[in-house]
Amino acid sequence: MGEARTGVRGAKPFMGALMLLCHFLLTVLLVAVTASASASASASASVNTLPGCPETCGNVSIPYPFGIGSDCSFPAPGFALSCNDTGNGVHKPFLTNVEFFNISLLPAQARIYNQISWQCYNATDAEVSYSTWYLQFIGEPYRFSDADNKFTVVGCDTLAYIRGQNQREISYTSGCVSVCHSSESLTNGACSGIGCCQTSIPKGINFYNVTFDGNFNNSQVWNFNPCSFAVLAEVDWLNFSTAYITTRELNETNGGRAPVVLDWAIGNQTCEVAQRNTTSYACLGKHSNCSDSTNGPGYLCSCSSGYQGNPYLPNGCQDINECDLKEKYPCNGICTNTDGGYKCTCPRGTKGDPKNGTCNSDHSNLSTSMKLVIGIVTTTSFALLLLLCIVVSMVRERRKLIRIKEEYFRRHGGRLLLEEMKSKQGLAFKVFTKEELEQATNNFDRNRILGGGGHGTVYKGILDDNHAVAIKKSKLIDDHQKKEFGKEMVILSQINHRNVVKLLGCCLEVEVPMLVYEFVSNGTLFQLIHDRKRTSHISLDTRLEIALQSAEALAYLHSSASPPILHGDVKSSNILLDDNYNAKVSDFGASMFVPKDETQFATLVQGTCGYLDPEYLQTCQLTDKSDVYSFGVVLLELLTGRKAIYFEGSNEEKSLSSSFLSAMKEDRLLQLLDSHIKNEEDMELIGEIAELARQCLNVRGEDRPSMKEVADDLDRLRKFKRHPFLQHNSEEIENLLGQPSSYTENEISGSYSIETKAALDIECGR
Ligand SMILES: *[C@@H]1O[C@H](CO)[C@@H](O)[C@H](O)[C@H]1NC(C)=O
Ligand SMILES: *[C@@H]1O[C@H](CO)[C@@H](O)[C@H](O)[C@H]1NC(C)=O
Ligand SMILES: *[C@@H]1O[C@H](CO)[C@@H](O)[C@H](O)[C@H]1NC(C)=O
Ligand SMILES: *[C@@H]1O[C@H](CO)[C@@H](O)[C@H](O)[C@H]1NC(C)=O
Ligand SMILES: *[C@@H]1O[C@H](CO)[C@@H](O)[C@H](O)[C@H]1NC(C)=O
Ligand SMILES: *[C@@H]1O[C@H](CO)[C@@H](O)[C@H](O)[C@H]1NC(C)=O
Ligand SMILES: *[C@@H]1O[C@H](CO)[C@@H](O)[C@H](O)[C@H]1NC(C)=O
Ligand SMILES: *[C@@H]1O[C@H](CO)[C@@H](O)[C@H](O)[C@H]1NC(C)=O
Ligand SMILES: *[C@@H]1O[C@H](CO)[C@@H](O)[C@H](O)[C@H]1NC(C)=O
Ligand SMILES: *[C@@H]1O[C@H](CO)[C@@H](O)[C@H](O)[C@H]1NC(C)=O
Ligand SMILES: *[C@@H]1O[C@H](CO)[C@@H](O)[C@H](O)[C@H]1NC(C)=O
Ligand SMILES: *[C@@H]1O[C@H](CO)[C@@H](O)[C@H](O)[C@H]1NC(C)=O
Repeated sequence: MGEARTGVRGAKPFMGALMLLCHFLLTVLLVAVTASASASASASASVNTLPGCPETCGNVSIPYPFGIGSDCSFPAPGFALSCNDTGNGVHKPFLTNVEFFNISLLPAQARIYNQISWQCYNATDAEVSYSTWYLQFIGEPYRFSDADNKFTVVGCDTLAYIRGQNQREISYTSGCVSVCHSSESLTNGACSGIGCCQTSIPKGINFYNVTFDGNFNNSQVWNFNPCSFAVLAEVDWLNFSTAYITTRELNETNGGRAPVVLDWAIGNQTCEVAQRNTTSYACLGKHSNCSDSTNGPGYLCSCSSGYQGNPYLPNGCQDINECDLKEKYPCNGICTNTDGGYKCTCPRGTKGDPKNGTCNSDHSNLSTSMKLVIGIVTTTSFALLLLLCIVVSMVRERRKLIRIKEEYFRRHGGRLLLEEMKSKQGLAFKVFTKEELEQATNNFDRNRILGGGGHGTVYKGILDDNHAVAIKKSKLIDDHQKKEFGKEMVILSQINHRNVVKLLGCCLEVEVPMLVYEFVSNGTLFQLIHDRKRTSHISLDTRLEIALQSAEALAYLHSSASPPILHGDVKSSNILLDDNYNAKVSDFGASMFVPKDETQFATLVQGTCGYLDPEYLQTCQLTDKSDVYSFGVVLLELLTGRKAIYFEGSNEEKSLSSSFLSAMKEDRLLQLLDSHIKNEEDMELIGEIAELARQCLNVRGEDRPSMKEVADDLDRLRKFKRHPFLQHNSEEIENLLGQPSSYTENEISGSYSIETKAALDIECGR
């Protein structure tokens, strides 16, 4: 056991490190689980305006740098729109008088309505009438889109001029002429040149006006084409129709307006120049990229590749989750979104270009199996580590339990006992484990209880080798006894007498040590004498034999044991009997060693009323003569068949010893004797036993014979009984019977009365 303990201690640093690792492992596992659970909920809705600004006006969305009012727009002229009620609660965005019906950031364009210009010829009065119209965005970020607009003229006798001017006030003039002679030549559909002409405009124009040439005034064609129209409009706007020639439909639909596309840009500087002034620079947001305007001066912002959103806002550019846009970002493998991009990989075991094609199974079997092996090894080692953690926890719990047991073992002097056992080899004494005793008693089953009292319970136990034992489980033990326990065990284990119940071992790893005794099969002497159910016909021979054996056992304890042992609680119920009525003195729970110092005396009060030495009650000093007195009472029980405290007639409690002593004095011993042994032949012998008992019951301990003397006397009487003629010595008997008694009635005043019992905590119950 000692070796086992040092082994455990040696493993301590390793176990500590392992526990730390286990703790770490479990924490990581927990964090990983919670992280993966919360990872999915972070995609924020893309914003398009400054905080608190309206996103739309009517059904036109207004993205920053545009805004309703100057607080919501980029701080430059032309971006602050107004959202006017055009009647019936319909709201539309305007820049002064120009309606914006579409604003986009990419491409950086806006659509507005442009007024269609007209010229008509009144044949009645031969007058030519026309409208005047111009649009100008000088000082504002707009210019007419050269790519998306065309100057379109509709008529059959028409020449219209477009005049424009760019940011640098460089003006230009262009025109478009359309002449046709009958409506028959006109075809619906594209603006083909007959009845309709179109011309492109240059870049950077932010001023525009239209004039008609007076020499082309519809005077030649007024009968089928009274009016001509001209407008700068979006390329696809016009779906030519002959009605546009013959009627005034163009002036009447949509308020005589046509859509025109404006390009816009920030400022009039290049990116390179603009970003020098960080207070006016528009592309300051993260992942925002600057590019120079392709139509006129100024620059534009855009989100870097992999991001989308509003590049003019500080956090407008957001990562694109390409994996959700499989059509735009193809991936035929495993798609993983990254900040500003995405990864597309082939699944384990396959190869290929998953962004443009498919993954095909990898034919290099070695690497596949290698991967498989690596996977298995990783999983297995993780599982093993977890298992190890669990095992370590279990081992720790077990060690804790063992520590508690060890602590009890140490406190109860177990080491001393072990050392003693080592030095005295061949000692038939065993230190039992708690488990062994639990197993032997079927977990201290109630049905296994042999007996019990104030001090504890005795169980019958069956050991592994089918050997029956009696296990005494005490209720309490005082501290002094705890320390001395191992030592006591060493001494008690060496007692080896055929009439003393053998102590086989003990268990120290519990709070109150348990004792393991030899199992004696035939009950107690008390049961033999007093149990009515048993055949109480026991011969005098047997009684004498039991008395002799008990006396020899006590004599052995008093004189042959080293150190001498006082029983302290001699009584018929502590004398056990085997199948052949051999007596075995038991219950060393009450055994006391001869005290070595005065302080121990006070603690030694123990015993059973009816058997208690009256001198002990007064002095509290347990001596070998106290055992002699108690044995005297046992002798009386054998002779009279009465209990040490018995009831007579009217429920009167009587002490057997006092009754006996008075009977002896008054020479009426016959009345007390057990009727089964009243026998003419034996009266002489009974008289001698009675005399011996009387001597044992002497009030003064000094006057009592020693246990050895009692045993010798009983031995002599037994021999006399068996061989009356060989051993008969009538003289001796006469001497014994004639011996004057030193007894006086008043000396045995009831000093062991009820009060004393209580005060001394004497075990009286059974
Ligand atoms: C805008 O709203 C008006 C009515 O409120 C509706 O007639 C029109 O079709 C809408 N335009 C667009 C592009 O949704
Ligand atoms: C729209 O409202 C603004 C400010 O109230 C005004 O300056 C502008 O002329 C209005 N435009 C139209 C078309 O009513
Ligand atoms: C606005 O213009 C963009 C770009 O030309 C176009 O995609 C979108 O459909 C337009 N929206 C409306 C309501 O006309
Ligand atoms: C043409 O002029 C006459 C005389 O001024 C006028 O009565 C007539 O209404 C005009 N026709 C058109 C279509 O304007
Ligand atoms: C249009 O431009 C021409 C030439 O610049 C100018 O003479 C004319 O007055 C302009 N018309 C209007 C309505 O501004
Ligand atoms: C219309 O044009 C013709 C030439 O084509 C010209 O003779 C005539 O005076 C013009 N009429 C007016 C009212 O300008
Ligand atoms: C142009 O008009 C023709 C006939 O009116 C129609 O069939 C065609 O779809 C129109 N095209 C567009 C682009 O509006
Ligand atoms: C076109 O419409 C406007 C107002 O809607 C009107 O004043 C003008 O006379 C019209 N022109 C023609 C040629 O009908
Ligand atoms: C650029 O714009 C500012 C005002 O926005 C103006 O003062 C400056 O003259 C312009 N520069 C050029 C070259 O157009
Ligand atoms: C930067 O821009 C702000 C606002 O447009 C202007 O007030 C400031 O003078 C500019 N600074 C420089 C160095 O151009
Ligand atoms: C910025 O924009 C320019 C022009 O569109 C482009 O060439 C460049 O790659 C962009 N840079 C980034 C980082 O997106
Ligand atoms: C995609 O695959 C086709 C044919 O398989 C190839 O011609 C093309 O270059 C590939 N494109 C890329 C971006 O790899």
